[in-house]
Amino acid sequence: MSDTTSERITVESLNPTERARLANTLTGYLSGLEWPANPAEQAAVGRDFVPAFEATLPHLAQVLQDVKSGKLLAAYFTGLPQEPSEARIVLLAMSSMLGATFNYSSQNSGELVMRLVPITGSAGNTNATRGEFKIHTDDAALPRDARTEYINLYGIVNPPGTLTSYAAASDALSELDPSVIDVLREARFSLRFPTSFGFGAEMWSAPCPILVGAEDDIELRFPSYATRPSREGDEVALAAIERLAKALDRHAVGFPLDPGCFLTFNNYRGAHKRGAIGESERLIFRTYSTRTLDFLRDVTGSHGPIFPIDSFAKKISA
Ligand SMILES: [Fe+2]
Repeated sequence: MSDTTSERITVESLNPTERARLANTLTGYLSGLEWPANPAEQAAVGRDFVPAFEATLPHLAQVLQDVKSGKLLAAYFTGLPQEPSEARIVLLAMSSMLGATFNYSSQNSGELVMRLVPITGSAGNTNATRGEFKIHTDDAALPRDARTEYINLYGIVNPPGTLTSYAAASDALSELDPSVIDVLREARFSLRFPTSFGFGAEMWSAPCPILVGAEDDIELRFPSYATRPSREGDEVALAAIERLAKALDRHAVGFPLDPGCFLTFNNYRGAHKRGAIGESERLIFRTYSTRTLDFLRDVTGSHGPIFPIDSFAKKISA
C-alpha cells in the first residue's frame, strides 16, 4: 500500500478465527451447490449467501454498509478465500450488499463476474492492457444512472507490486484553484465511449461537465485519457483536464489485489487507476453494483442483470 491515506478509505484484515469461520460457512453453503450458467441465477446465489456472510463477519458487513451510505468511499479487505469457486460467491454476496449486480452485454463477454486478464497487444487504457491504466472513472460517457455506482474487485492472481489505486474526488479538489473547479463544472467537455463496448468508430458524448454536486457530495465522470474540450482550441478547458488528472494522481491510494484481497470503491465520487502488469499472469474478478437498475431497464428494454447498452449509447453520442 502507498503511504498516502484518506479518511474515507478503510483497510480491514480477517484474523485467523474469522477466516476459519468463513471457510466453515462456505463449506456448508457450497455442498451440493451447482454454479448456474445464467447470470440472474448467479446473482441469486450471491444474494442467498448474504445472511450467512453477515452472521459470520458482522464487522465487514458494517463496513460495506458504510460504503453504501457514503460514509466511506472505498474499502480494502485482506484474508478472504483464494479459491475461485469460493471467491466468486463471496464477491457476489458483498456486491449485492452494495446494490444490484449487473454488467453490459458487450463488456467482458457479458459475464456477471467479469474475469479481468491481461491480453498482450491489447489497446492502451483498457482493462486488458499490460501497460499502466491511467486514472479514470468507468463508463463515464454514459449518463449517471447507466453507470455503475460501485466497482468491486477480488484478487485471484496478481503480480507482486501491481497496485490498483483510488483517489477520492474531494481529496483531489482540495488542492485545485476554485477557478479550475468552476471550469470543470461547465458543460465544455466531451468524453469518449469505452473501447470495450466494441464500437467500430470512435464515439464521443455530447458536451457535459466533469464535476457535479455540492462540495461535500461531489461526483465526477472523467476518463483522463479520453476527455477533451468540446470546442477545439479551448485551452482553459484543456488546462483544467490536466490539473484534475494530476491532482487525482497525487491523491490516489494504492492497494495490491493479491489472492484473497478485495477492493470496492464508489465510481461516482472518485477515480481509479492500475499500475503496469508486465509479462506476468493476472486474474481479477470484477463486479458492478448499483442502487437501482430502473434506468438501464428503461433504456434497454431488458430486465437484466446483463444489459445491451450499445444502441442506447449510439443514440446519445454526439
Ligand atoms: Fe476502471
